[in-house]
Amino acid sequence: MKHIIIFDTTLRDGEQSPGASLDMKAKIEIAKQLARLGVDVIEAGFPIASKGDFDAVREISAAVKGPSICGLARAKKEDIDICAKAVKPAKKSRIHVFLATSKIHMKYKLKKAEEEILKQAAEFVKYARKFSDDIEFSPEDASRSEIDFLCRVIEAVIKAGAKTVNIPDTVGYATPLEFGNLIRTIKTKVPNSSKAIISVHCHNDLGLGVSNSLAAIQNGAEQIECTINGLGERAGNASLEEIVMTLKTRQDIFKCSTSIKTDELYKTSRLVSKLTGIVVQPNKAIVGRNAFSHEAGIHQDGILKKRSTYEIMKPEDIGFGGTRLVLGKHSGKHAFKERLKKLGVDLSEEDIVKAFERFKNLADKKKEVFDEDILTIIEDEIVSVPETYSITGFEYKSGKNIEPRTTIELKKGGSVKKQSSSGDGPVDACYKAIEKITGVKFDLLDYSLKAATGGKDALGEVSVRVKASSGIELSGRGASTDIVEASAKAYVNAVNKFLFMFKA
Ligand code: KIV
Ligand code: ZN
Repeated sequence: MKHIIIFDTTLRDGEQSPGASLDMKAKIEIAKQLARLGVDVIEAGFPIASKGDFDAVREISAAVKGPSICGLARAKKEDIDICAKAVKPAKKSRIHVFLATSKIHMKYKLKKAEEEILKQAAEFVKYARKFSDDIEFSPEDASRSEIDFLCRVIEAVIKAGAKTVNIPDTVGYATPLEFGNLIRTIKTKVPNSSKAIISVHCHNDLGLGVSNSLAAIQNGAEQIECTINGLGERAGNASLEEIVMTLKTRQDIFKCSTSIKTDELYKTSRLVSKLTGIVVQPNKAIVGRNAFSHEAGIHQDGILKKRSTYEIMKPEDIGFGGTRLVLGKHSGKHAFKERLKKLGVDLSEEDIVKAFERFKNLADKKKEVFDEDILTIIEDEIVSVPETYSITGFEYKSGKNIEPRTTIELKKGGSVKKQSSSGDGPVDACYKAIEKITGVKFDLLDYSLKAATGGKDALGEVSVRVKASSGIELSGRGASTDIVEASAKAYVNAVNKFLFMFKA
């Protein structure tokens, strides 16, 4: 199995994403998480770019253990000097020197001829070697460089001491076949190519960053430069999580391993998103909110029968909670029944059919149907709740200077039980007595009393909203000319619903 070095540039190229700016504390937090994730190299910044970048690279070099800490430098003395100073505290450090080699960059940006570039590249790799054994060189815009010249530059920098040569597709212009061929050509044409690690750095302007990186691996690349959530300049860089999970999931094709602890991927993605303020699109591969969600009825049915029918990775492998079956208008009865089972609701087939019909009506109007909606449907629509307990008698005492006390008698099947309790009032005392008989304990969330009819002898109607210890919320209703009895009926109604729905 070939080992692929994962070079993470979230804190350098990733931070170049429009809108992503990280303060020192955030950079250190991310770097520590990248170390936990198991990346081999962290490119922590571009020290000459600003004092903030210099300080961040230096602090990360001092604080983060495990990966090599790398700083970026142009092929210039002042860049390399400052970069070397920034990475000095690291146990393992790398200086990454870059210089453009494409005609367009050399002519318009650098205003230099090929021979000058060749000389400058080798000279400053040699200079950087004074500070570290681990020097990486990138011929910027390599994929648009003239191949013979590119190969000459690569040969020269390896001779000058570069341990890694990184081939950037700086503007995301290459296509997979073409980029794979480029790597193979470099490996075969550059006489000393085996003395260096060949790396790639693919931008995503055409959405091909990951595909190009994978094509490079298939043609001999041994290091991949990438970022969490695919952050980076313009359309970003190849996404670390997509590359790593492709290598893992399709080991049969790539026969490669990485040192990434994949169950840290989701956490890392969330952290980077939170600290950069750049949200991850819901349908983003691997770490998007919907990556393990299924809504279509046929898919949900398949997943419930055998997960691998519609899932090629386990959500746990990336540290994500689990497969989510989103109940919506496309869901089928199998998923609905499964959700009832998960909620602990145990209904007859006839009641399930009734509830499913109501659920479909609701799902037509509502994007996503939540567990609370389902419980309300069951509660409101499945009205044939059997009266497990019925009130056969009650009396209460209450008044000024009298401790409120209620006695209640409940019938269940052939047996009648009686209990008394005191409380903050006759209703509270009544609820405590009901709890003692039924063993069902609720928190009372809401209580309301209204007159159902007019006149002094009006029927009082009580509604209660209660919460069971499992978190399930239910309501109960009762009516009587005696408001304590109406309250007792409402509570017993909620108890009966609970016992029916959850077969408690
Ligand atoms: O995209 C690029 O060419 C770069 C280099 C500095 C490696 O980011
Ligand atoms: Zn880049």
